[in-house]
Order: sequence, then C-alpha cells, then structure tokens
Amino acid sequence: MNSKPKIFITRKWPAAVEEKLTERYDVTLNTDDRPLTADEFKYALQHYDGVCPTVCDSFPAEVLKVENKRCKILANFGVGYNHINIDSAKAENLLVTNTPGVLTESTADIAMTLLLMSARRGAEGDRLVRAQQWQGWCPTHMMSSDVTGATLGLIGFGRIAQAMARKAHHGFGMKIIYFKPSPAEQSIIDDLDATRCDSIAELMQQADFVSLHCPGGEATRHLIDKQMLELMKPTAHLINTARGDVVDTQALIQCLTDKQIAGAGLDVYEGEPNVAEGLLTLDNVSLLPHLGSATIATRTAMGEKVLDNLQAYFTGQPLPDQIA
Ligand code: DGY
Repeated sequence: MNSKPKIFITRKWPAAVEEKLTERYDVTLNTDDRPLTADEFKYALQHYDGVCPTVCDSFPAEVLKVENKRCKILANFGVGYNHINIDSAKAENLLVTNTPGVLTESTADIAMTLLLMSARRGAEGDRLVRAQQWQGWCPTHMMSSDVTGATLGLIGFGRIAQAMARKAHHGFGMKIIYFKPSPAEQSIIDDLDATRCDSIAELMQQADFVSLHCPGGEATRHLIDKQMLELMKPTAHLINTARGDVVDTQALIQCLTDKQIAGAGLDVYEGEPNVAEGLLTLDNVSLLPHLGSATIATRTAMGEKVLDNLQAYFTGQPLPDQIA
C-alpha cells in the first residue's frame, strides 16, 4: 500500500522539481500542461492531501467550499496569491503557502527590460526591421527617451521594487522615488538615495518612469485609473510587472492612443492570457507574456520553495511561507 501523501500539481513544473516530487510523494502531474477547470480543482481538493496551484489557476470561494475535502494545504507555485480567495481558504481550514524571495531578481530584470524597451522603442524597432520597412539610419529616425539619469517612481516598495531600484540607481544612475504607506528602512533609503512621495498622485506627477509593484486583488483593482494616468508627464512611461488589474486597461489604451503618456511596458494583463484588443495595435506599448519569473533557475527555485513548504507540513514543522 502506498502511504505517501497524495499531491496534485496543476501545471507542468521544471523537470528537476517534478522528479523530487515524484520521489517524495504519490504525485499526479499535469504532463500535458493543460489549463484545468474549476471542476478539476474541486476534484483535486476532494481526493488529494495537498494541491499545488499556480498563478494562472483560479481558486474562488465557490471552488474552495467544495464538500468532502481531503486537501489540507494549497502550496502555491508563485509569490502572488490573488487567484486564491484567502478568506475563504481560512474559513475552510486550508493552509496556503507561496514562494517569496526567489523570484525577486528575475522579476526586477523583466521590469527593467520593459522600461528599456518602452523608453528606447525596442519592440517597435524590431517590428520595423522584421517587416523590412527600415530605410536606413537618419538623424531623426525613431528618437526616444533617455533612461540614464531619469526619475523612476515605484508604487509598492517590497523586495522586487527594491531590486529594480538597485539596478536602476546603481546601473543607470536613475533617481529613485517611491510610494508605500510607511517609509522604507533607512539603510535602503540611504543605499538608493530614495525619496518617499506622500501620495501616488505626487509620484505620478514627478516620475519619468512609473513601475508598479503592489499586490493584485480587490484592494488595488484599478489603482491606476484614468485620473492617475492623466497626472503623468506626456513623456513618461508606465511599467507593469505586478498584476494586470492594478491598471484600468481601457483608460491606459485611451491615454496611449491620445499620446497623453509616451509609452507603456506590460508583462501582466487584466483577464490574461487574453490581452485587450486595443493594446495589440498600438506601437507605443511593449507587451510580454507574463515572463517575470521565467528563468530556469528561478522557476526551479520556486518549485524547491513549494517542496520546502510541503515537507514542513507533512513533518509537522512550521510552514516557511504561510499566508493562510
Ligand atoms: C508570481 O509568482 O506571482 C509571478 O507573477 C509569477 O511570475
């Protein structure tokens, strides 16, 4: 008889971590990497001791409340957990863990990539060359904005924002301003020569590049709306590697269309993987498919974090990354 805990993995993981999971647990993998349905999640909650969802899987109250649950822990592959109804998980006595810390640098790298792409019109230039439309170098062709020395405004100032600030300040000589309800630690402020803005509105007005680093969910839904976008300089760029619903997409499309801001770089979308039609035809927006943590090393480390949380749970130890 197999007495190992039964674990359900919702999507394909890096091979190295799937191998370890298979050694330790009676595991069901999603070898086809097919997106699963709410009914399949409910079934998993009823038939497995642990379920490991990821950021593209939706676990609303309706799913979490399924009767006759066997599952005791949702060990999420990802740091963001706005796809899980945490209140409902608590009410159902489900533990929830995530994977903080290991995707900080790779996500900050993607934010910096988008900032550079948007400022220097990278994606637009690539499209031009591929379309064989490039007529050759000339003094006024595809002029863009300087990154070096410009002001970077960070909304949210956690691990990823601070990593981006380090790259931007120490690598590109950028001036750092941030908004977060309480001031950051003095040693961090000193290292980055960072200035705290009293409000998001103040930051929107001052920054040449605004980068979003707050969690997703109801509390931050459309935090960046038409009114906020209109405060930005016409030369400024908006970068979003946080969650799509932090920005009112239709307001952003309007602003980009009317050239009220110079550009945007997006890695996340409202209702992803669907991307609003209006974004697809604009030249002044750079679009990536949620690549923030997508390096081999980072995704493997995320899997290892899930393994640590499962291991702790099944050996009765405190969970390293418990959120519920
Ligand atoms: C996360 O872990 O929340 C990220 O969005 C994945 O890249």
